[in-house]
Amino acid sequence: MAKRPLILAIDVGTTKVSALVGEARPDGELTVLGIAATPVSGMRRGLVFEVERVALAIRDAANRANSMAGTDLTQAVVAVNGDHLAIIGGQARVAIKSGTVREEDVDQATHKAAQVSHEHDRETVQVIRRGLAVDGFRGVVDPVGMVAHQMDAEVLVVTGLTTVLRNLRRVVTMAGLNPVLWVPAPRASADGVLADDEKHIGVVHLDVGGGTTGITVHRGGHIQYLGVVPIGGESITSDLSVGLGVVSTQAERLKLEYAAVGAERDGTLEVRAVSGQSVKLIPVKELEEIVEARVEEWAGMVEQHLSRIDWPKGPAAGVVMTGGGSLLKGLNSYLESRWGWPVRMGAPIGLGGLSDLSRSPGYSVVVGVARAARTEGIKPESDSLWQRLVQLWLTLWN
Ligand SMILES: Nc1ncnc2c1ncn2[C@@H]1O[C@H](COP(=O)(O)OP(=O)(O)OP(=O)(O)O)[C@@H](O)[C@H]1O
Ligand SMILES: [Mg+2]
Repeated sequence: MAKRPLILAIDVGTTKVSALVGEARPDGELTVLGIAATPVSGMRRGLVFEVERVALAIRDAANRANSMAGTDLTQAVVAVNGDHLAIIGGQARVAIKSGTVREEDVDQATHKAAQVSHEHDRETVQVIRRGLAVDGFRGVVDPVGMVAHQMDAEVLVVTGLTTVLRNLRRVVTMAGLNPVLWVPAPRASADGVLADDEKHIGVVHLDVGGGTTGITVHRGGHIQYLGVVPIGGESITSDLSVGLGVVSTQAERLKLEYAAVGAERDGTLEVRAVSGQSVKLIPVKELEEIVEARVEEWAGMVEQHLSRIDWPKGPAAGVVMTGGGSLLKGLNSYLESRWGWPVRMGAPIGLGGLSDLSRSPGYSVVVGVARAARTEGIKPESDSLWQRLVQLWLTLWN
């Protein structure tokens, strides 16, 4: 009996490592067989700071997802996060020598378009195909078999700092896994939750995590922009801790229970002081001011990214948010009135199997990572990672 094409996807977040074992079906659906999240310390703003702690959390999450699925997968597709991620557009034209477009022509055009130059301390994380044009006709989805003279390919090359990527590779390897493909976390999250028609008419996706906010913009069915802001829910917690003079566990609790944007409430809250048993009275207004100041700074940084996109009317499908940080009360309406676009919460779509568990917005990245193993994540041919992925697929299919 042929083996099923199983994928182990890993998202090393700032506050938790998520692991998913799934079967990516040819129709694009993902059957989730195992899913787990393990809290992690040792990450900051999406980057590895303490290798052993992070490696242990990865091992734990992967083991739990594997045992739920009854598998023992070690080849992993891994999300890469952090504000070191950068994008460069690339394009290339190839002549169709045989007169009919073949798979090799598409690969050659894509490979050529991906030959962009970047700084010596960076490497390519992923090459994302944005569009193909055949004899000048743009927006061709599958040109194989078409009669043509030439073909143009347009790609988005996502690069990351080599040192950061090496540390990520190190922790994944220390956890006993073999990383076979890297996927930028913001893109994975978008692929986990966005519907094709939203990607077509224009949509902003924000994955508001603990230490980062991933931003993507899709339009015309393709990704147009990707960026990361180094602020997430943890920044609010640490501001509350410093500003109100409470320990971070108290600050986190205050945030989850009381923090809100635009609530304009009065009254006081009672919390225990850092040392001793004395009780401290905190005006709710003060808490709200701290939260709102950080949210305003955060929104301004997101806007700096969005201002790089040329769109007279903004995203027709509005903004879709995921990640724990997006659950902050009042954030949706704050952004709606600030930007004038509809804002909704996203959750993973196109799932089968353990879909109830995996539909939590916190799993958007790991769901998208699993899906990316199957879809348009294209590595240059010379890249050994890509070859290893192809090998992985061949092994799994046979
Ligand atoms: N109900 C809530 N209200 C406000 N914040 C929340 C809520 N629930 C979770 N959070 C915050 O969400 C953050 C964690 O989100 P998430 O799990 O998406 O992060 P992560 O993936 O670990 O981090 P990152 O993506 O930045 O690397 C924490 O800062 C947590 O306080
Ligand atoms: Mg995350």
